[in-house]
Amino acid sequence: MAEYADQVLYRQYTTEDDLPDIMELVQSELSEPYVIYTYRYFLNQWPHLAYIAYTDHSTKPVGVIVSKQEIHKSGVNRGYIAMLSVDKRFRKRGIGSELVRRSVQSMLLHGAEEVTLETEFDNYAALSLYASLGFMRDKRLYRFYMTGKDAFRLVLPLVPLPGMPELPATGYQSNEGSAYSEGSESETSSTG
Ligand SMILES: CC(C)(COP(=O)(O)OP(=O)(O)OC[C@H]1O[C@@H](n2cnc3c(N)ncnc32)[C@H](O)[C@@H]1OP(=O)(O)O)[C@@H](O)C(=O)NCCC(=O)NCCS
Repeated sequence: MAEYADQVLYRQYTTEDDLPDIMELVQSELSEPYVIYTYRYFLNQWPHLAYIAYTDHSTKPVGVIVSKQEIHKSGVNRGYIAMLSVDKRFRKRGIGSELVRRSVQSMLLHGAEEVTLETEFDNYAALSLYASLGFMRDKRLYRFYMTGKDAFRLVLPLVPLPGMPELPATGYQSNEGSAYSEGSESETSSTG
C-alpha cells in the first residue's frame, strides 16, 4: 500500500515499452474494451499528449492520460481526451487533474482552441474532476457506450496565452467517417 507521502512524478509517453503498463491501467478501470491498435493509433501520432504518472516507490505507472488533436471539419483545432485512468490506491490526490492539465497544456502549445471528451453520464468522479477544471456539458449522447450507457460530451474552450508560440497540430485531419472519430459508437468510443 502506498504512503500518502509518495512523491508523484509525471512524464510524457516515450516508446512502446510503456504500452503494456498503460494498457493494464486503462483496461482495469475503463468499461470500453480497446484493442492494441487503438492504443497505437493515439500514442504513435500524439505521443506528446500522453502522460504517465509514477510514484517514487512504484515502477509501474499509477495514472495515465491518452489524447489526440486534429483540425475538425469545422476548422476548429480540437484536442480530444481519449483515456484517463488513475490506480484506485492513488486516487483523490490530484493525479487525474494533473494529467489532464499537462495534456491540455501540450494541446494549447500546439494551437488547440478547445478540448472535448466523452464520459459516462453517471461517472461522478470524472464529471467532478472535469467540472473543477472548467469543462462544460455540451450534449448527452444516447446509448453511446457498448454497455448501453449514455455519455456526456464535455467541452473546454481554450484561450491562448499572450505571446505563446503556436505549433502546428500533428496527426491526421479529422475524418468524421473514421472508426476513430469522436462520438463514434464503435469499439473506439472513448471514456476520457
Ligand atoms: C476519474 C479519475 C481519473 C479521477 O482521478 P483522481 O486522481 O482521483 O482525481 P483528482 O484527485 O485529481 O480529483 C480532482 C477532483 O475531482 C473530483 N473527484 C475525484 N474523484 C471523485 C469522487 N470519487 N467523487 C467525487 N468527486 C471526485 C473532486 O472534485 C476532486 O477534487 P478534490 O479532491 O479537491 O475534492 C479516477 O477516479 C479514475 O481513474 N476513475 C476510473 C476511470 C475513469 O472513470 N476515467 C475517466 C473516464 S472519463
